[in-house]
Order: sequence, then C-alpha cells, then structure tokens
Amino acid sequence: MQETERSETRPFGVYVHWPFCLSKCPYCDFNSHVRHAAIDEARFVRAFAREIATTAARIGARTVSSIFLGGGTPSLMAPETVGAILDAVAQSWLVAGDVEITLEANPSSVEATRFSGYRAAGVNRVSIGLQSLDDAALQALGRLHSAREALDAIALARAVFERYSFDLIYARPGQTPDAWASELERALAQAGEHLSLYQLTIEQGTPFHQLHAAGKLITPDEETARALYDVTQSVCAAAGLPAYEVSNHARPGGECRHNLIYWRGHEYAGIGPGAHGRLEIEGARHAIATEKMPEAWLAKVEACGNGIVSDEILTSEEVADEFLLMGLRLAEGVDPARYARLAGRPLESHRVELLRQQGVVEITRSGKLRVTSAGFPVLDAVVADLAA
Ligand SMILES: C[S@@+](CC[C@H](N)C(=O)[O-])C[C@H]1O[C@@H](n2cnc3c(N)ncnc32)[C@H](O)[C@@H]1O
Ligand code: SF4
Repeated sequence: MQETERSETRPFGVYVHWPFCLSKCPYCDFNSHVRHAAIDEARFVRAFAREIATTAARIGARTVSSIFLGGGTPSLMAPETVGAILDAVAQSWLVAGDVEITLEANPSSVEATRFSGYRAAGVNRVSIGLQSLDDAALQALGRLHSAREALDAIALARAVFERYSFDLIYARPGQTPDAWASELERALAQAGEHLSLYQLTIEQGTPFHQLHAAGKLITPDEETARALYDVTQSVCAAAGLPAYEVSNHARPGGECRHNLIYWRGHEYAGIGPGAHGRLEIEGARHAIATEKMPEAWLAKVEACGNGIVSDEILTSEEVADEFLLMGLRLAEGVDPARYARLAGRPLESHRVELLRQQGVVEITRSGKLRVTSAGFPVLDAVVADLAA
C-alpha cells in the first residue's frame, strides 16, 4: 500500500496556468503563446472553473493552502478574470484563512490600477519577471521592458502587496562575476523577502538554442558559471536572503509556500493548458498533465470537463525518487524516514556514506539528509547516485 499521508492539515496547492505573453522571449520554453487577436477571457474563466470543479469532484474535499497563477504572463489577465478564477477555487474547496495567492507579473504589463485590482480580487503576493537591471542585457534577452520599468514595477509591487518577489537571470553571455555581484547588490536593495535567481539555461527548440549551436551565443564556461553561482550565494547570504532552494532565496519565513508544496512532495492540482498536477486518489499518487495548446485545451474542457492528456499512477519507487529529486533541492533536505515509507525500503546506507565522505551530502542534527554547498553545483549527480 502506497503512503499517501493525506490529512486536512497537509498543504494543498492549486496551480493555474495562463498561457499567453505579449511576445516570446528567445530563451524561454515555457508553455506560452502569442496571439494577435484578443483573448476571450470569459471563455477561459468558464473553462478554468469547469476544470477546477471536475478535479474537485474527483479528489473530494481539500483545504487550499496556496494558489499560484503562473504563465505565460498572468498579469495580462483582467483583475475580474483573476477574481473569477479565485471564486471558482473557493466554490470547490475550502480555502485556508492564511492562503498564499501568488500572481506572476511581467514589468511590461504592470500598472497601478491593475495591481490594486488583483489585490482586491484576493492576490496577496506577486512575483515579477525582472530578469536584469541592465538595459543592454534586457535587450539581449529579448525583453520588452527597460531597467527603469523593472524598478517601477517593483516599487508598485511594494506599495500594493505585503509580499513580493522578483526573478533575475544570470550566467548570461559575457557576464563577469564582478558585474553580476554589483547588479545583484543593486537588485537586493529593492528586494522584499524573496528572490528567484536562475542561471540562463539553453533550452531545446528556442532561438537561443539555435544561436548557441551556431556559436553565435556563448554562455560562460564551467569555471565562470561556478564563480557566478558562488557570488550569488555569498552576496545573498550577506544580505540576509540565503538560498533555501537551488535558485530561490528568502529571508527566514519569506519562502514561497506554493513552491515548497512541490519541493516537499505534497499534493497540488494543475489547472489550465499544459499544467501539471500530483493528486492523491484512492491511496495512489497520480501524475497528471493537461493539453498544452490553449485552444485545444479549451475545446477538450468544454467537451469533457477537463483537459487531461496524461494521468499516470506512480509506483512507490517513482514517488520516492521524485520526493528525493525535489526535496534535495531544498537547503533543509529530506527526512530519510519519509523516503523509506514512500519507497518501502530505506536509502542505501553505503551510498549515503560514500557521498558524505565526498562532502556533497550531510546528516543534520535532526536526522535530515541534505546536500552541502559543495554538493549543490553537482546536485543532479548526487540525486542520480542516491536514487540508483
Ligand atoms: C514563466 S516566467 C514568469 C514571469 C513572466 N512570464 C516574465 O517573464 O516576466 C518564469 C521565470 O523563468 C525564468 N526563465 C525562463 N526561461 C529561462 C531560461 N531559459 N533560463 C533561465 N531562466 C529562465 C525567468 O526568470 C522567468 O521570470
Ligand atoms: S520568459 Fe515570461 S514573458 Fe518571456 S516568453 Fe517566457 S513566460 Fe513569456
């Protein structure tokens, strides 16, 4: 019998995907699309509400601890659309009094009335895709906004919301550790309780991938990338926002509760085009994915109540491996006893011991297994070794 650990006190998240952007950034492989005709938001609201209701009918009662409106660019949605989606969630499940409701925003589609509208609709946290504070870098990343507009978006977020975060991309072509340290320090002066700092990844199928393959876009070599990563850790820690996950930094207590649901192996529903979910149904953990193309997703939901294209029951082994893969991203690490319950067998102690001797993992005083700062740059290899 698989361990499912469900109880009303367990976190439950709802992710809602808005799949449209004003333009497609050349590095991005998220499920985001540009449409020149107006988007029929009312039709999407009806489909989101239907998929939420279908999911609730399938899994039953839950208490929602977090809702995340991600994209794409959710800040292109009218505040009324956001309000209607949040109402639909509340019609299907209980919503915790202290629910975290995050909306991702792009500085190109941010204005005061819109932000106040989101807040009135119930959003209590925004995450802004800043990417850089350097105009030339923003242009090279194909962004539509300037550094000034990025700073204005943060000022607005700070004025309207108690909690805000922003994303930066580093390890960009030509970026030196010194230049990054000074950009990051300028960014930290604007930071609230949370920052996401991603190393530029060259994703298959993107224009950056083509340029990279043709030698026209050169990313930092391994040594420079490592130096950029080290600078990130030390500058953020000194500013009181240490990494609590590979790419995420927060003041203690400022962590993104929604993303913690993923990393701690809890349960979440994925609503909207190309959304992923992990749902506990009749004692089994299901990995669910929906149709990616917005129009096809709409048609599917309108015809059968949900946009699901794959629904797999995970084996104990898969559940345990995923728990390890996600949990070891966190600075807090994982509970080996929970792994053993999920897998039906403990982690192999000789493998743990070997990695411990190499200095890439450690056992904390409370008995958790966690990756050390020397281990994070080689996290994938560490996980592969433990899960093997
Ligand atoms: C879905 S976007 C959310 C925000 C919004 N769409 C925007 O770009 O302003 C999530 C974040 O992923 C990051 N990201 C996307 N593609 C990336 C890549 N190839 N390498 C590193 N970070 C990437 C960016 O920092 C981006 O803000
Ligand atoms: S980075 Fe954000 S704005 Fe750019 S294409 Fe991806 S989702 Fe859209």
